[in-house]
Amino acid sequence: MSARASSAHISPSAHYTGYVWYRHRLAEPAFVTGFGRLVHGLLSPIAWGARVGFGLDIEQFLLQRHLQIDAQLTAAIERGGVCQVVEIACGLSPRGRRFSQRYPQLRYLEADLPLMAARKRLLLGGQGWLGSRHRVRAVDILAEDGAASLAALFAELDRRKPLVVITEGLVNYFELALIESFWTRLADQLRQFPSATYLTELYPDLREHPRYRQLRWGVGLIGRLTRGSYPLHYRDDQAIELGFKNCGFREVAVLDPSRASQALGLAPCNSAGLVRVIEARV
Ligand SMILES: C[S@@+](CC[C@H](N)C(=O)[O-])C[C@H]1O[C@@H](n2cnc3c(N)ncnc32)[C@H](O)[C@@H]1O
Repeated sequence: MSARASSAHISPSAHYTGYVWYRHRLAEPAFVTGFGRLVHGLLSPIAWGARVGFGLDIEQFLLQRHLQIDAQLTAAIERGGVCQVVEIACGLSPRGRRFSQRYPQLRYLEADLPLMAARKRLLLGGQGWLGSRHRVRAVDILAEDGAASLAALFAELDRRKPLVVITEGLVNYFELALIESFWTRLADQLRQFPSATYLTELYPDLREHPRYRQLRWGVGLIGRLTRGSYPLHYRDDQAIELGFKNCGFREVAVLDPSRASQALGLAPCNSAGLVRVIEARV
């Protein structure tokens, strides 16, 4: 089976994160699936053990990345004049719904693999939440051409206006070479806009971090649960910046959400964070 065909094994994880967003009052009940609730329940003893035994709070990591991306998107809209957003690998995330409600002028395009996109379209459409400004499309980040490619997805955007593209919960499921080829194709697309920002999160390979061994255990678990692997990319923030620049991004900010806990409305962290949010501009 090709790498391209195999990334569908990642999709079930979107049900789990969708349930986490709901639990933390970021999503309406329509976003909850039976599978998401079931997996959350099955994993809760492990999550409890990781929190109590290792000091690793899985939901805290998820909230850190989600809320930091929300904060960067809010600033791009309110201070950067952004009026179009593409969220790739949207899964069952409520962000498109929340931002479309909050900013009715925004064009918000959600995209995912065809089956997940169909499911999301049904979910949002069934509630009457889709319209000419909020739509769902199929995309495969590994497709270099054709109907599921980035070029096809971006064809319906307004090239005269600034753009934000988001991927959340996606990049660490792929080997670095594969995800860098996506970032290079993405940067090529983004250069066709007057200004464009890419927001994503990643887990670096922070070997000196006091929780590194526990992190490796956690990512091994995610890999086993999603029947794939979960490689950690880049050794530190400088390597992240260089990696993105090599893919064609001009300006790269590497944010550690654990340093902004208060601003993000989260409990304070007593150690340096393990997740980074990247804000990259072409
Ligand atoms: C962990 S979920 C994250 C969902 C959502 N962003 C969130 O944070 O709740 C990963 C998502 O990546 C999507 N995905 C996997 N492979 C993909 C690909 N090749 N192209 C686009 N999306 C993909 C899956 O279908 C799934 O919805």
